[in-house]
Amino acid sequence: MQISVIGCGYVGLVSGAGLAEVGHNVLCMDIDEARIESLRQGLSPIYELDFEELLVENSNRDRLAFTTSMEVAVDHATALIIAVGTPPAEDGSADLSHVLTVARSIGETLSKPLLLIVKSTVPVGTCDRVRSEIQKQLDARGEKVSFSVASNPEFLAEGVAVKAFMNPDRIICGIEDQHSKKLLRKIYAPFNHNHEKIFFMDIRSSELTKYSANAMLATRISLMNELANIAERVGADIEQVRRGIGSDPRIGYLFIYAGPGYGGACFPKDIRALSHSAREHGYETCILNAVEQVNLQQKTRLFEILQDEFKGELAGKNIAIWGLAFKPKTDDMREAPSRVLIEALLEVGASVRAHDPAAMQEALRLYGNNDAFSVHDDPYGATKDADALVLVTEWKLYWVPDFGRLATDMRQTILLDGRNIWPQDAATEYGFTCCAIGRPSAS
Ligand SMILES: NC(=O)c1ccc[n+]([C@@H]2O[C@H](COP(=O)([O-])OP(=O)(O)OC[C@H]3O[C@@H](n4cnc5c(N)ncnc54)[C@H](O)[C@@H]3O)[C@@H](O)[C@H]2O)c1
Repeated sequence: MQISVIGCGYVGLVSGAGLAEVGHNVLCMDIDEARIESLRQGLSPIYELDFEELLVENSNRDRLAFTTSMEVAVDHATALIIAVGTPPAEDGSADLSHVLTVARSIGETLSKPLLLIVKSTVPVGTCDRVRSEIQKQLDARGEKVSFSVASNPEFLAEGVAVKAFMNPDRIICGIEDQHSKKLLRKIYAPFNHNHEKIFFMDIRSSELTKYSANAMLATRISLMNELANIAERVGADIEQVRRGIGSDPRIGYLFIYAGPGYGGACFPKDIRALSHSAREHGYETCILNAVEQVNLQQKTRLFEILQDEFKGELAGKNIAIWGLAFKPKTDDMREAPSRVLIEALLEVGASVRAHDPAAMQEALRLYGNNDAFSVHDDPYGATKDADALVLVTEWKLYWVPDFGRLATDMRQTILLDGRNIWPQDAATEYGFTCCAIGRPSAS
């Protein structure tokens, strides 16, 4: 099928390349000219496993192309996917300006039937607004053309986005007519061969399904962090507790890790946007407010532990940080817990020496103008003469540190394991004090 994708970010690119991979003829559009130019040269503007391979292969097969022209994108498409950003606005609501701008431009050029698929995460009612915006432009031009709007939220996770898109657990489709259903079936048929994964529903339920999934997952994380805070106070070990409760099949092991709080481009903004939207409809979200509150507090936890360890004397200390991205296998630092820690450390006059396999360029963009912040190509380069090492993001290369080397290289022997992955007994053998989240320190 002829498909256009508007917005060449994580979601737009992975969806576009994934749909091209199964044989659709995909044209991706973005207003960012540099991004489009780099994509045309086969260079990925995002750090995402296996994406560049899909990009190059499908571009070479002439099934994937790029443009900055909305007119060309609309003309190309039988179905057009909107995958632009919906960043948080000042008041916590989802900023829909990109989505509505796209709708307006579509209405300005549309002259043949089109299925419009909203893949961006949007509050309930947004598809209606998109439909009205397009219709308004068509009416202004006196153009009579039929089009449908469908909701098709994306559930891919950064770091494993290609795999998640190519092997989805479910494909949620909110539709308003049988024609949309037919086209969506055709688009997703190659992903639906093994067993039925498509859930057709009304548009509003589809829009809410996306927020509900993120709300459920974020709630598990915040609840686990709250339990970790209790564990610290009562002398229990949250890791033992995690294993104990995860064994209950009603609970399971996924998304119950205590840590430095959730970050990224989705959970924080989506929880706030859902609460905001509920408030607009006269309902105060007690649980979601608490999920957000616990998360904001939890993001300061690593700094608090360091302050305790250094008795409030962090000025002039060298603090090494391993892991900057909000999670492993991505370069995305949006709302990452590392940022709260870095900013607090710089504020009190400590120096930050950081390493991350993918996010150092982004970190330099954010903090490069501060002399007290540096990045190092090698994880052990960051720990040379450090007073403490903090593990913030659990990239695989940090799981088995060379404690002997760290003990020789560091100025003081304080480790803070923000992900509860290091064996405390191995670290203490080398003289380290090993602090963690929700478990007693070991020394
Ligand atoms: N990143 C994720 O893991 C993820 C997962 C599921 C859903 N989502 C949702 O998908 C949407 C996109 O997220 P993302 O992370 O891919 O965003 P992103 O910020 O990485 O990319 C958005 C892209 O849209 C482009 N854009 C903005 N305005 C435009 C316009 N008028 N015309 C054309 N292009 C325009 C930007 O230049 C940018 O390249 C959001 O609603 C997000 O909540 C994201």
